[in-house]
Amino acid sequence: MTMQIERFESKEVLYTRALEIIKQVKAQGATTFGLATGGTMEPLYEKLRQSDIDFSDAISFNLDEYVGLDVQHDQSYNYYMHKQLFDCKPFKMSYLPNGLAENAEAEANRYEQLLQQHELDFQLLGIGVNGHIAFNEPGTSFASETHLVDLQPSTLEANARFFDSIEDVPKQAYTMGIQSILRAKVILLIATGEKKRAVLEQVIAGEYTENNPATALVKHNNVIILTDLQEGEN
Ligand code: F6R
Repeated sequence: MTMQIERFESKEVLYTRALEIIKQVKAQGATTFGLATGGTMEPLYEKLRQSDIDFSDAISFNLDEYVGLDVQHDQSYNYYMHKQLFDCKPFKMSYLPNGLAENAEAEANRYEQLLQQHELDFQLLGIGVNGHIAFNEPGTSFASETHLVDLQPSTLEANARFFDSIEDVPKQAYTMGIQSILRAKVILLIATGEKKRAVLEQVIAGEYTENNPATALVKHNNVIILTDLQEGEN
């Protein structure tokens, strides 16, 4: 089991390191990349856009997608990914859950099947203020696979900043499960800002509890954590 923790004084250096890790993984032959959305990832996607990396021989899978948003909706994760990365650095194939699917269970199964057919070489992760990874909220089974979730009030609040009002935030999403995420060979978690400190420190301390979904990572054998939070400060 290895969990490598790297703390940075500067976000610029942190994101440069994240870019370096992705380039390294790719140079070592990775072809299937699990991707994340959210504010934390924007500086990384900017660096990827500006880099010489070429994903045209690779496949991507996103962690999650809101239910009910069309791919053209500017807050759908499909739209986000196109704007942040795919339009500039296209993959051979990019998969996201379909937020408009009519049958939620069938859609979750379809996505999980695709994931199982394409082993993830790499998975990028952010972390929610409540410890969620993808949209696996506290209490989610560590054995979970792709499923439909009801988003918790703290997640709706945290994501309201991207919408006109909190009422506009979709109440449900499709998400890879914890088990789907843990199957990835290398996991890179990026956690920045004081609001993430409490949940991140539990992971670093080696706690293992479904109350903090990110602590599932302590049992994975290749996790790298990049953070701008310094030890012992608050
Ligand atoms: C995004 C995702 C979420 C975010 C998390 C942190 O695809 O799965 O788990 O990584 O909510 O979001 P930000 O980076 O906006 O704080």
